[in-house]
Amino acid sequence: MENKMSLAQQMTVFETYLIEAVNDYADDSLTLKEAMTYSLSTGGKRFRPMLLLAVVEFGKGNLTEAFPVAAALEWIHTYSLIHDDLPAMDNDDYRRGKLTTHKKFNEGIAILAGDALLTAAFSLILNQEELSNKKRVQLAKNLAFASGPKGMVSGQMNDIEGERKTLTLEELENIHVQKTGALIEYAISAGSLLADVPVNASTSLLNYAKHLGLAYQIHNDLKDVVYSQDESGKRAGNDAELEKNTYPSLLGLKESMAQLNKQIVAATNEINQVKKSVDSQLFNMESLETLIKMLDYVRIETEA
Ligand code: IPE
Ligand code: IPE
Ligand code: MG
Ligand code: MG
Repeated sequence: MENKMSLAQQMTVFETYLIEAVNDYADDSLTLKEAMTYSLSTGGKRFRPMLLLAVVEFGKGNLTEAFPVAAALEWIHTYSLIHDDLPAMDNDDYRRGKLTTHKKFNEGIAILAGDALLTAAFSLILNQEELSNKKRVQLAKNLAFASGPKGMVSGQMNDIEGERKTLTLEELENIHVQKTGALIEYAISAGSLLADVPVNASTSLLNYAKHLGLAYQIHNDLKDVVYSQDESGKRAGNDAELEKNTYPSLLGLKESMAQLNKQIVAATNEINQVKKSVDSQLFNMESLETLIKMLDYVRIETEA
């Protein structure tokens, strides 16, 4: 039934699912559940679930079956942000214009809310009996890889260890690919897996995700420099204060924007490649336009 709805309509249904699914995994009585729900409800863009669902839609897959996987991914993203904002990491008091979880509750509760979202994410995928065992295992394995010590967590580690040092551009790119790219790549690969997208198209889609993942973090770095707190919902200038390695700190604004644009062009080319490689009768070609439109999230209009 969801397949008849636009992606925007599906995202509204998904939003409710994302929050309500917590009820199956956390006890009502605990502040833990309140903190998990709070962290999920402060208004994220849901960028990764949207990517995943757009690919499922492209492959004419079953969106209802994809919801738990998209929610698991967003739970992991949310956990990563809760921990990222802690005083031991980036020490941020605000995110999305709201108090960060440790400021709203306390540090212990924030650490545990992150732990809870991380572990429950795997239960959410593995409990989906509508999915074949093979798909469930593959989806869980890939998510563990993307979010773990060769993926997001490794990127976060190198990010904090890189503070007050000057890294090479290659080292910084590697941090960005791991801390941010890995979950974005997962969104696309999970969507392809769920909808059985054939390998020629899924390879180009994954290349799109690689360029988008890097672009997403370059854009995030640039926002810290060119956006005010009101515009970004978090404290501006924090990266410079923590002496983080970022695209603007290594390359300056103008070159960072050029690098960002290069990634946007490369991502667009990959989608054009998909358009050429599939039988348009068998796929939902409009979803490819959605994937191109999603690149608008990472465009920066401000002149350097
Ligand atoms: C912020 O991610 C942190 C990064 C990994 C770049 P998003 O910009 O997707 O955060 P929300 O969920 O929309 O707030
Ligand atoms: C966040 O990176 C990446 C993850 C949480 C995995 P940043 O620290 O650069 O992102 P913001 O600026 O806090 O959103
Ligand atoms: Mg960080
Ligand atoms: Mg941060």
